[in-house]
Amino acid sequence: MEGLLLRQMREEDLEEVYKINASSFTTDAWSMDAFKREFRLPYSRRFVMERNGKVVAYVIYWVIKEEATVMTFAVRTDLRGKGIGKRLLMESIKLLRGEAGKVVLDVRKSNIRAIRLYKRLGFEVVCERERFYSDGESALLMSLSVDKIDGGHGNKGTEALLAD
Ligand SMILES: CC(C)(COP(=O)(O)OP(=O)(O)OC[C@H]1O[C@@H](n2cnc3c(N)ncnc32)[C@H](O)[C@@H]1OP(=O)(O)O)[C@@H](O)C(=O)NCCC(=O)NCCS
Repeated sequence: MEGLLLRQMREEDLEEVYKINASSFTTDAWSMDAFKREFRLPYSRRFVMERNGKVVAYVIYWVIKEEATVMTFAVRTDLRGKGIGKRLLMESIKLLRGEAGKVVLDVRKSNIRAIRLYKRLGFEVVCERERFYSDGESALLMSLSVDKIDGGHGNKGTEALLAD
């Protein structure tokens, strides 16, 4: 998809980010306060994908001791299945290369679409965490070495990587 722009998340993006999050997660949605808190955490890294000036996807990582954990990640409901999620993860992981050697995440076992995306990027299942979520569902812990993310590909269509 053309016209995508990856950039740092700003506080004024939060209204849109909150909406995408709320429509993406039923039991695990974040409060607005939780999003605002991220801007005060020194280990929080936040990115959005913009299209035609509108935020269409976001991801937040915590980088601690060279390990980046995906805390929340979603694409706007009506724009899924077009490669935006994959592009956002791939490009943002590249930006974390200098400070993280590994990316980890937990994903619901039933979230086939997300699991497929992670596997396509090279993530591997480390283990299953039984009854990880409050509703009793188990999680898969997945992990990726950042040097597995290809530096030369996947950049097409991303117009700029801003570091403001
Ligand atoms: C998971 C999510 C972020 C994926 O974003 P997306 O932009 O739709 O994903 P992409 O279009 O980049 O697709 C990536 C891969 O997912 C798979 N995929 C895409 N659409 C799919 C569909 N309709 N059904 C099954 N798999 C699909 C494909 O394997 C695709 O890779 P490929 O086409 O190169 O083989 C998005 O579905 C979402 O926001 N879900 C709700 C929130 C969520 O579950 N977040 C992750 C929590 S761990």
